[in-house]
Amino acid sequence: MIHTTDWQLPTRLLGRRVIVYESTDSTNNRALELSDDAANDGVVILAHEQTAGRGQHGRRWQCGPGDGVLLSVLLFPPAELRRPVLLAAWAAVAVCSTIGEITGLESRIKWPNDVLVQERKVCGVLIEQGKAVVAGIGLNVNQAPANFADAGLPEAGSLASLAGRNFDVYQVATKLIEHLDSAYALLLTGRASEVEAMWRQSLSLLGRDTEVASTDGTWRGRLRGISFESLELEVYAGSVLQLIPERVRQIRAV
Ligand code: BTN
Repeated sequence: MIHTTDWQLPTRLLGRRVIVYESTDSTNNRALELSDDAANDGVVILAHEQTAGRGQHGRRWQCGPGDGVLLSVLLFPPAELRRPVLLAAWAAVAVCSTIGEITGLESRIKWPNDVLVQERKVCGVLIEQGKAVVAGIGLNVNQAPANFADAGLPEAGSLASLAGRNFDVYQVATKLIEHLDSAYALLLTGRASEVEAMWRQSLSLLGRDTEVASTDGTWRGRLRGISFESLELEVYAGSVLQLIPERVRQIRAV
């Protein structure tokens, strides 16, 4: 079902105002335009279709009209929450909770901010920071496997392709906004450790042998600790390397 008018949710902050576009270039652009005014804190932009959706590393985000959730949240967080790793974790954790609640499917976070179901990427997050923070989330909902093959994205998936049934995109969007709102409230009220615990669990990397690529080099070892402050990688028995999460580009289980 397409809702082309703006709506409100009875949330704490996020989604108290939801602005809906039938078609726009990028929901992140619409949110960035509102970033001069802190009264827009928590505004959500939703689009049925994007004509120039942005992905990470300058890539495009492709999603057919009405096939997925295309959403951006505008936030004015306090300085201590303006950390890419924390914001990516917040968004990805909310996505995992939404997927679990709507479909019953298990999902995992692929570092730093993709969400996979059965090893297929169903969601990507693009955080852009300026005067405010814009968190853009693309969640594939009703695409058929052929859509991804045609788009040259064989490793992508949608909730429908993995669950075997279609979902109401706007119901999924509503649930996602609610989970984003609850997790953001945890961050704002000094309960970031609860988000951190969900993130650690959804990364499924603790205690595993991994290859970690950071801006300072690539190492192999067993991940002994994962927190917003540091990753602890045991490179030799008893020798633990502390890595700053913001510098870590990729983590692969080996
Ligand atoms: C990625 O490359 O994995 C991140 C994709 C982020 C896509 C979303 S869709 C809604 C928002 N608007 C954009 O232009 N990009 C993000």
